[in-house]
Amino acid sequence: MKATDVLVSQHAFLRGVFAVIERELYRAESLEEVKTIARLVEGFKRSHLEGEESFLFQPLDALLRERGQTSHLYEQHKEHAALLKQVQTAPNIAEARSNLLLALRILRAHFKEEERVVIPTALAAFQPESLETLGKTWLEQAVLHISEDLVASQPHPKV
Ligand SMILES: [Fe+2]
Ligand SMILES: [Fe+2]
Repeated sequence: MKATDVLVSQHAFLRGVFAVIERELYRAESLEEVKTIARLVEGFKRSHLEGEESFLFQPLDALLRERGQTSHLYEQHKEHAALLKQVQTAPNIAEARSNLLLALRILRAHFKEEERVVIPTALAAFQPESLETLGKTWLEQAVLHISEDLVASQPHPKV
């Protein structure tokens, strides 16, 4: 699968996750619940952005920098992290919920912008084989991430 297709399919997956999360967010009854949901969003978002930065943005850096686009997308990643952090420090459930809803809206717009900007640039810049190699490595890395997270979440055996 080409790296550009990995990007689109991960965005599609995340849009679905966000729809479920948004529903749960309206059902949440405590500030702690909203904070937990925000941590989930943070986890999903982080593993996606680490992949796209490593396997799409960095390889495209030189080309995009000439057009002033890459730093803009990296910058947005930092803003998303800051927005989600605000949920953790919100004084009440209403503020936490509205911060998280805003973050989800901004993330969706960000996905659209990436698809509009990064995909045509990558398709023009790379040979299809190079995009296939990047995509394959990205997918392998993603599987590795999931296995590491699973191992990390297992209780430690008693000695
Ligand atoms: Fe991104
Ligand atoms: Fe993305």
